[in-house]
Amino acid sequence: MKAVLCREFGPPSSLVVSEVDEPVPGPGEVLVRVEACGVNFPDTLIIQGKYQQKPAMPFTPGGEVCGTVAVLGEGVSGPAVGTRVAALIPYGGFAEAVAIEAGRLVPVPEGVAPDAAAAICTAYGTVLHALEDRGALMLGETLLVLGAAGGVGMAAIQIGKLLGARVIAAASSMDKLEACRAAGADGLVNYTEEHWRDELRALTEDRGPDVVFDPVGGPYTEPALRSIGWRGRYLVVGFAAGEIPRIALNLALLKNCAITGVFYGEFVRREPANNRAMLARLFRWVADGQLVPAVSHRFPLEGAGKALGLLSGRRALGKLLLVTHAGQRPSG
Ligand SMILES: NC(=O)c1ccc[n+]([C@@H]2O[C@H](COP(=O)([O-])OP(=O)(O)OC[C@H]3O[C@@H](n4cnc5c(N)ncnc54)[C@H](OP(=O)(O)O)[C@@H]3O)[C@@H](O)[C@H]2O)c1
Repeated sequence: MKAVLCREFGPPSSLVVSEVDEPVPGPGEVLVRVEACGVNFPDTLIIQGKYQQKPAMPFTPGGEVCGTVAVLGEGVSGPAVGTRVAALIPYGGFAEAVAIEAGRLVPVPEGVAPDAAAAICTAYGTVLHALEDRGALMLGETLLVLGAAGGVGMAAIQIGKLLGARVIAAASSMDKLEACRAAGADGLVNYTEEHWRDELRALTEDRGPDVVFDPVGGPYTEPALRSIGWRGRYLVVGFAAGEIPRIALNLALLKNCAITGVFYGEFVRREPANNRAMLARLFRWVADGQLVPAVSHRFPLEGAGKALGLLSGRRALGKLLLVTHAGQRPSG
């Protein structure tokens, strides 16, 4: 089978596609024939040795797959061979097949295409957990999304709208902001411009946003926190800008606001039943046509380096996917 290989830590351009032996599922594992695999920011870090996990070489990156069950390992009684499933995994997904612990698999219902399922798990799962569970976003509240044209950012615009919020998108260029508008954002601010806090204040009638969704960190966090409304909830989601901000806690006191961490991977591990219920809800929205995942590019496995280069170069819009021969429709 074909697999993307990282032979030594390095940039996206150092990835290669090779013929390798198909994995044999061990006890408690299932072999999944991959149709589509989501491309996520942590994939850019793991191949450079900058992620908490440092797999032995060579390894295959890719942490979010959708495919069909091909072989059940020892001690596994289901899901049945042929069932379409999705899973979050540490790595291994950029391949035509991968062995996955059975407990990680979530069945994908009829009406949800494999690329939609692969796009949903990480970004949309993170966002729904963040906005509803951690941020208690209420109907009619205002949500500010930083990095709004990125994978989780676009998902936050879409889920924010589905939950009945007014959504303001913040991003670094006009092109990105136009993509955010197309995804449903009600207001737009370019947070690389000097007076963006004034624009935000005007867009929120001087009140500030009720909830801030921040997957970027760096220089954007402090001005966003200073702008938050009374009783606001500031969601710490990620640090795509590369720098973890240090915040003076008086800012939280002054706004009577909460600064709340979001760690979706650990939520999946500790609260699997809650996560399954949440993913089932997301899949229902997709099957009903209420939610169309914001996928901007589909690449074949050979496009893995290009896809990761777009993410690390700050050039991606929405979600990027790798699609195998079994998943058809590559267009990147
Ligand atoms: N906490 C969790 O459970 C969880 C779950 C999923 C993802 N995350 C984290 O969320 C973050 C975003 O993930 P994603 O998949 O949405 O990534 P993405 O698609 O690359 O989006 C990140 C956005 O960050 C902004 N950015 C600012 N400075 C950047 C830089 N130096 N390099 C790259 N991007 C920069 C970019 O928007 P502008 O150009 O508009 O500024 C970009 O669109 C990552 O840090 C990821 O690890 C956390």
